[in-house]
This record gives sequence, structure tokens and C-alpha cells, in this order.
Amino acid sequence: MSRKRFLVCITGASGAVYGLRTVRALREQGHSVHLVVTRWGAKTLEYETGVTASELAREVERVYDEDDLSAPPASGSFRPDGVVVVPCSMKTLSAVAAGLADNLVVRAADCTLKERRPLILVVREMPYNLVHLRNMVSAAEAGAMVLPASPAFWHRPRTIDDLVDSVVDRILALLNAGSLLNATWGEGGYTLGQE
Ligand SMILES: Cc1cc2nc3c(=O)[nH]c(=O)nc-3n(C[C@H](O)[C@H](O)[C@H](O)COP(=O)(O)O)c2cc1C
Repeated sequence: MSRKRFLVCITGASGAVYGLRTVRALREQGHSVHLVVTRWGAKTLEYETGVTASELAREVERVYDEDDLSAPPASGSFRPDGVVVVPCSMKTLSAVAAGLADNLVVRAADCTLKERRPLILVVREMPYNLVHLRNMVSAAEAGAMVLPASPAFWHRPRTIDDLVDSVVDRILALLNAGSLLNATWGEGGYTLGQE
């Protein structure tokens, strides 16, 4: 698999572990990762995983401040192979859906949509209200892939890491960035270890 460049954005929804694992899985697959962690993303990351945003910053190629609207991902010329907002708060979803690009995460998402490149929003809230659902429709109509943080069970997960990996595996698949599980469902059940 050729080395690609992805922008990972961690926002303040619960499920920071999905963002952490996405960063690490993309690095394990040999890709270049650029990172933005919002203020509330940093708080939930540390609260839920014990990992600080500055510790995670040391694992990636480049880090940007969410307020730096002059950073490369704020321009359509950045041309990443994909942008993933994981987890994606309802606040960031609403801004993406409305085109309200007042921080780097939303501006990068906005540019990704206008340049017709892959944008994945790993939304997390429960339950959804009508505003959340309408924002998901708007984002999907604009070209985003809405991937709810809903782990699968058909691969018989035994640990929380297995559940997290089932979501991150879908992210990698949609980004054409490799695979963690190599699991496919077919006749007679699931198979592991096959492309
Ligand atoms: C512990 C914690 C958990 C949260 N979980 C969620 C969540 O699951 N979904 C959500 O949309 N917002 C959640 N929030 C609220 C967001 O952090 C808040 O809306 C924030 O403004 C999001 O900003 P950001 O998208 O710029 O990071 C949570 C906040 C905290 C402190």
C-alpha cells in the first residue's frame, strides 16, 4: 500500500478512543497523519483515555491549532487523501452542515467537500434529536460520509479494543488506507485474515 496523507480531527464528543486508535492505525499502516484536536477534544481525550493531546502530537507528522485558520488544511490546495473527524461532536457536525467554517476542523472539512475529497464524520451522540439527524442529512448531501460510532458484533469482539477496532477498520476501509481486522462477512459466517 502506498503512503498516503490524512488529516485526523478529534473533537469533544465522547469516544476519544476512536480518534486515538484511528491515528495509531493510520501510522501503523505507514501513512502520514496530520492532526487537529479541538479544546474539548483535548479534554475528552485526556479524561477518557489518559492520553494528552501533546502526547498524541508526538506520534504524528504535523499538528495544527484549531484556531489557526492560516494552516495548510484551511486551503483547498492542501489536498489530503482524506479527512476524518473522529469522534465528531454534534456541534462540529452542525458547523460542517451549515458551512460555518470558524475553526480549522470545520474549515478543513469544508475545503474537503468543495474539493470533492473523502470526508468521514464519525458522529457520536445518543439519542439523536431532529436537528442532529437533519445535519447528518445535509452533510451527507454535501458529500460527507456519516459513519456513526456503532461497533459491529459479527466478528465476536472480546474486548473494548476489539469493538473500537471494528469502527476504526471501517474508517480505514473508506479511506482506502488498509485494514486492521481483515474480516469479511460471507456465506457461513465471518472470515478473519483474508483480504
Ligand atoms: C465528557 C464529555 C462528553 C461529551 N460527549 C459528547 C458527545 O458524545 N456528543 C456530542 O455531540 N457532544 C459531547 N460533548 C459536548 C461537546 O464537547 C461540546 O458540544 C463542545 O462544544 C464540542 O466542541 P468541538 O466540536 O469544537 O470539540 C461532551 C462533553 C464532555 C465534557
